[in-house]
Amino acid sequence: MSKILVTGGAGFIGSNFVRMMLTETDHEILNLDLLTYAGNLENLSDVEGHANYTFVKGDIIDAPAMAELFGQHKPDIVVHFAAESHVDRSVLDATAFVQTNVIGTQVLLDKSRHHNVKRFVHVSTDEVYGSLGASGLFTEETPLQSNSPYSASKAGSDLLVRAAVHTHGMDCVITRCSNNYGPYQFPEKLIPLMIANAHEDKSLPIYGDGKNVRDWIHVIDHCRGIKRAMEDGVKGEVYNFGGDAERDNMFVVTEILKLVGKGEDLITFVKDRPGHDRRYAMDSSKARAQLGWTPTCTFEDGLKQTVDWYLKNKSWWERVRSGAYQEYYEKQYSSR
Ligand code: NAD
Ligand code: TYD
Repeated sequence: MSKILVTGGAGFIGSNFVRMMLTETDHEILNLDLLTYAGNLENLSDVEGHANYTFVKGDIIDAPAMAELFGQHKPDIVVHFAAESHVDRSVLDATAFVQTNVIGTQVLLDKSRHHNVKRFVHVSTDEVYGSLGASGLFTEETPLQSNSPYSASKAGSDLLVRAAVHTHGMDCVITRCSNNYGPYQFPEKLIPLMIANAHEDKSLPIYGDGKNVRDWIHVIDHCRGIKRAMEDGVKGEVYNFGGDAERDNMFVVTEILKLVGKGEDLITFVKDRPGHDRRYAMDSSKARAQLGWTPTCTFEDGLKQTVDWYLKNKSWWERVRSGAYQEYYEKQYSSR
């Protein structure tokens, strides 16, 4: 049994990971999260009180607080999810992205080194590789050519993790995954935003021509990959995870409309996102061969299950959409 510090465990992927680990393992989980607009303890209300679960509120960029936390809890393993994660917000203002994603990652690396953490798992994204043309897949050897402030800040953090391995001999692995979907995703991202808007008969804003392609993966398949990388990944290695489910945005949105039972008249084409990456697609053969991982959920099953979850949990997304989110939505979509 190990003590695992999970950063960003109150967010979308982190909360699914924490729940999975508490259900499937006997590891002790310490969830460190600042509870920004994207972090919500309600995501984990079902595991509150679990004997192996502790939550601590804190900011990963606060070095003295992190020193105290590592000294007090002495984690064996760090699984690092905490980040600013939404591309559109990084276009509006990149400050928090550089602070949390770059500086915050270095603070965690420093504290992990000083406190002899045995393994540091850095959760990164396919977006660090940039954009693909009509064919080809990202491999772990693809050069980092980030195009958005979000992906540039993630690439910065990936390189700091690489440097920690090469300079200090730290035992780190990096995971890079494609677009996740599933329960508890904040409704600023494509799939939950479109489900919520369709349900409420609001317009569905598609950027540009709607032909941008993402490789969709169910969040649980991603979490299973992170767990395998944590357990058996090789020090210093990068592992790609993808869902083998390339779909363009128009396809995704029209499928959502069918599942919610609404018409395509709700679709509105709006001004494109600046620097919008055209296509992402992952080659996950290394993770399959070396970690014995494979995605198990088809996009069709996963999307149906996700739409059902959002329709059953309307009170969850209504609550997270209140307050500051309204201001963001106005700013992001009113001028498009
Ligand atoms: P999210 O925005 O839902 O959650 C991020 C969490 O980090 C929130 O709980 C937030 O409160 C916390 N956080 C933010 N700043 C913090 C700080 N300074 N200190 C402590 N906690 C802080 O993000 P997500 O979609 O769950 O993504 C998690 C990770 O996975 C990120 O590193 C992201 O880059 C990566 N990733 C996401 C996707 C995706 O499709 N969502 C795909 C690949 C990789
Ligand atoms: P998003 O969920 O923001 O993920 P990412 O940009 O990190 O891949 O967006 C997924 C795709 O959907 C992307 O091509 C942008 C597009 N999109 C829209 O067309 N309209 C929207 O309102 C949003 C949020 C995204």
